Amino acid sequence: MGAMILIIIQVLLLISPSITKSAAQSEVITLPGCPNSCGGVPIPYPFGIGSKCAMPGFELNCSSTSAGTSTPYLGNYTILNINLSSGQARVSMPVSYQCYGNTTRTNLSFTYTVDWTGTPFQLNTEKNIIRAIGCNTLASLTIADSANSYVGVTGCAPLCESLESLTNGNCSGIGCCQATIPETSNYFITSFDDLNADLNASLSYNFTRCGYAMLTEDSDFYLKTSYITTNELIGQNTSAVIDWSIGNTTCNIAQGNKSSYACSSDNSVCLNSSTSAGYLCNCSDGYQGNPYLEGGCQDIDECVKQNPCSAPAKCHNFQGGYKCFCPFGRRLKSGNKDECELNLALVLGPCAGVIVLCFLGLGTYAINEKRKLSKVEEKYFQEHGGRILLEKIQSDQGFGFAIFTKQQIEQATNNFDNANIIGHGGQGTVYKGSLRDQMVAIKKCKITDERKKKEFGKEMLILSQINHKNIVKILGCCLEVEVPMLVYEFIPNGTLFHYIHGKNHESHISLSTCLKIAHESAEALAYLHFSASPPIFHGDVKSLNILLDQNYSAKVSDFGASILSPTDEAQFVTVVQGTCGYLDPEYMQSCQLTDKSDVYSFGVVLLELLTNKPVIDFYAPEEERSLSSYFLCAMKENKMHELLNDEFKNEDDIEVIMEVAKLAKECLNMRGEDRPTMKEVAEQLDRIRKLKQHPWEQEYHSEEIETLLNKTSHSIEIRGADGITFDVYRARSVPTERLAE
Ligand SMILES: *[C@@H]1O[C@H](CO)[C@@H](O)[C@H](O)[C@H]1NC(C)=O
Ligand SMILES: *[C@@H]1O[C@H](CO)[C@@H](O)[C@H](O)[C@H]1NC(C)=O
Ligand SMILES: *[C@@H]1O[C@H](CO)[C@@H](O)[C@H](O)[C@H]1NC(C)=O
Ligand SMILES: *[C@@H]1O[C@H](CO)[C@@H](O)[C@H](O)[C@H]1NC(C)=O
Ligand SMILES: *[C@@H]1O[C@H](CO)[C@@H](O)[C@H](O)[C@H]1NC(C)=O
Ligand SMILES: *[C@@H]1O[C@H](CO)[C@@H](O)[C@H](O)[C@H]1NC(C)=O
Ligand SMILES: *[C@@H]1O[C@H](CO)[C@@H](O)[C@H](O)[C@H]1NC(C)=O
Ligand SMILES: *[C@@H]1O[C@H](CO)[C@@H](O)[C@H](O)[C@H]1NC(C)=O
Ligand SMILES: *[C@@H]1O[C@H](CO)[C@@H](O)[C@H](O)[C@H]1NC(C)=O
Ligand SMILES: *[C@@H]1O[C@H](CO)[C@@H](O)[C@H](O)[C@H]1NC(C)=O
Ligand SMILES: *[C@@H]1O[C@H](CO)[C@@H](O)[C@H](O)[C@H]1NC(C)=O
Ligand SMILES: *[C@@H]1O[C@H](CO)[C@@H](O)[C@H](O)[C@H]1NC(C)=O
Repeated sequence: MGAMILIIIQVLLLISPSITKSAAQSEVITLPGCPNSCGGVPIPYPFGIGSKCAMPGFELNCSSTSAGTSTPYLGNYTILNINLSSGQARVSMPVSYQCYGNTTRTNLSFTYTVDWTGTPFQLNTEKNIIRAIGCNTLASLTIADSANSYVGVTGCAPLCESLESLTNGNCSGIGCCQATIPETSNYFITSFDDLNADLNASLSYNFTRCGYAMLTEDSDFYLKTSYITTNELIGQNTSAVIDWSIGNTTCNIAQGNKSSYACSSDNSVCLNSSTSAGYLCNCSDGYQGNPYLEGGCQDIDECVKQNPCSAPAKCHNFQGGYKCFCPFGRRLKSGNKDECELNLALVLGPCAGVIVLCFLGLGTYAINEKRKLSKVEEKYFQEHGGRILLEKIQSDQGFGFAIFTKQQIEQATNNFDNANIIGHGGQGTVYKGSLRDQMVAIKKCKITDERKKKEFGKEMLILSQINHKNIVKILGCCLEVEVPMLVYEFIPNGTLFHYIHGKNHESHISLSTCLKIAHESAEALAYLHFSASPPIFHGDVKSLNILLDQNYSAKVSDFGASILSPTDEAQFVTVVQGTCGYLDPEYMQSCQLTDKSDVYSFGVVLLELLTNKPVIDFYAPEEERSLSSYFLCAMKENKMHELLNDEFKNEDDIEVIMEVAKLAKECLNMRGEDRPTMKEVAEQLDRIRKLKQHPWEQEYHSEEIETLLNKTSHSIEIRGADGITFDVYRARSVPTERLAE
């Protein structure tokens, strides 16, 4: 138990640097060496000042005035801000006007034409309106595709007969009117109609001389009569919203051309623009920053930003999200991932006892245990490891085990060249090499503490005695070097873990392959339990420890946690080794490894094969986090099919699948006594394999399977394991080397 506490603490230490690292990175919005703002306005890429800093079409000018301030310009218009996620920007637009004098109809006017054809910009139709202010003035906005093609015109004319009819207030039609913009466009013209055509300006001539038109997003406009009676609006600006997008193709097409595809950051997504033919990039949920730059999207530390977890839940940030954790004895409310409720099952559950003891014992107890432990280990290594092995090698001629020299090993691995690394284990690094014209795997211990030595010694001893086609063969060792090294046969096709969960999902795992792997692994474990003398309990059965050769034959490996029964038992009651998610709850409680502990772990491996799901899914809702409890619940509720690997939802095979599920359920029995032996498991799997190969030999009827599906399972409460799962899982999520084993 002491060891367990230490593991948990180590885990927490391991995890913290990665958190602080991600939080410390500052936001980058521009290409390297480019100014990130102009006149106080942030200019994120694809926008940029100067052509080197911008994506083509997004170049802005940053002009400085004599007063020393600078302003970002897009053509003739000032940029007020840029919104990367919505693909919009605010631009300052001048107010258009037309005034008339005593004798001339028009003595002063300003209208403008915006020509953004061939640029990424267009006028937003949802947020902007055209507003006219004045009396008997007809202001309009003409929209076109280009200089020579007319699309439409929109506008309005405010009417007012006398000064008395004007009041301060909303834009009501008297002195002020407004119209929506029906078409998106990148070419538009503000204009005023000839006042004498339809409207008679002489009605208002003696109190107003000018009419105004503004293109604006400001819908809450308050009209002051002074706008009409004076010329204070001349020279004013309003802000309008423009849309921008990348390119002129949709995401699907854009993604096809990697060199021009603009969403360069990891964790970014492409969105088709709703207003133009192009697309936009956004950071994925849980990330923020600039999706147009490599590495631009960075994790949002929700815990620091807003701490969504209500006390006493603790917030933990991870890439792309956060998770609230409840203190011991509580769990997350179902349907609410931010709040805790009391978890009676956990408090009363069997596993809780272990945790409570562990935490009570934290402190001197742990330290004492550790000391005691290392003495035991040293003794063990002396007694059972190195010495026995050497004696055995010396005495036993037919013993197929070689002692390699340091030189041989160095040659084989090209002096431990990193290129030859095929895996990092908890215990060391595994290199590929060629020894005596044979491909071998060489395991080199990382740390030379007593415990590691013990594990190596033990593994050497155990493996050297075994000869089974489904157990990885040890060819020898090297004792000359400071760190012990083991030489194994080389198994070319990786681990079952990688096969199931690996990235190469192209090679779908077929049911018969699945059964073959399950059956052969079971055979190997049954051999260890029943044919080895003394019996060997593996102690760390998991998909990472099942290797696959080129014919998908299973090879059980990694005997670092194994014990020889019964001689070992007394010495190892204080060490609970293994991998969370696979650990037999009874073993955790009794600290006594039995053959049934392997059966339990093997049951979990069966679930992995059936469901293709991780044993502990940190990202899943609480009920689904532990695969074994999720599975048992699903069996109870007759919903097993929901969990199944998509490949296996095929109706023809469902009975075979249910047979395996049933077997897995038995293996996961809470009480070791109720679990089948490994021999029985192997026999069952053999039978199921034959059933799959020859369905006509079917011994089971669908009713039987239905009963099985309906049968309520034992009231197993694995929930209690969540407390451990959580911490230890975090450990497994951090050192990825462990996963890459
Ligand atoms: C900017 O304004 C000037 C003068 O009003 C005009 O000639 C020019 O075409 C405008 N440029 C753009 C890009 O609108
Ligand atoms: C920036 O200014 C230069 C020179 O004044 C001009 O040629 C260019 O068209 C301007 N670019 C933009 C996007 O306004
Ligand atoms: C950008 O636009 C989105 C959607 O309109 C909005 O939620 C967000 O607050 C805006 N960001 C900024 C910085 O204005
Ligand atoms: C032109 O209109 C402005 C604004 O109303 C006015 O101040 C100015 O006197 C007018 N000029 C002439 C020549 O009518
Ligand atoms: C315009 O008319 C006003 C009276 O209506 C007069 O006082 C003013 O001198 C005239 N201005 C011009 C330039 O004719
Ligand atoms: C002006 O408009 C606002 C909402 O736009 C409304 O609440 C208010 O009553 C209006 N005022 C008048 C005088 O119509
Ligand atoms: C404008 O109204 C005045 C006075 O009501 C009138 O004398 C004049 O003829 C009208 N002008 C036009 C073009 O209708
Ligand atoms: C403007 O002229 C009209 C007649 O054309 C007159 O009734 C009104 O009183 C005048 N208003 C002012 C402010 O001079
Ligand atoms: C309106 O915009 C123009 C051009 O950007 C600028 O010169 C002017 O000072 C602005 N006017 C106000 C009142 O901000
Ligand atoms: C799309 O953009 C490319 C490059 O900017 C240009 O060559 C092509 O003519 C454009 N196509 C359309 C339909 O606008
Ligand atoms: C084993 O791996 C090799 C290459 O590493 C690959 O070509 C072969 O298809 C794999 N075999 C199986 C059964 O996965
Ligand atoms: C299983 O349950 C379903 C409904 O829950 C029921 O219709 C069916 O008869 C049950 N089958 C057996 C064999 O109990």
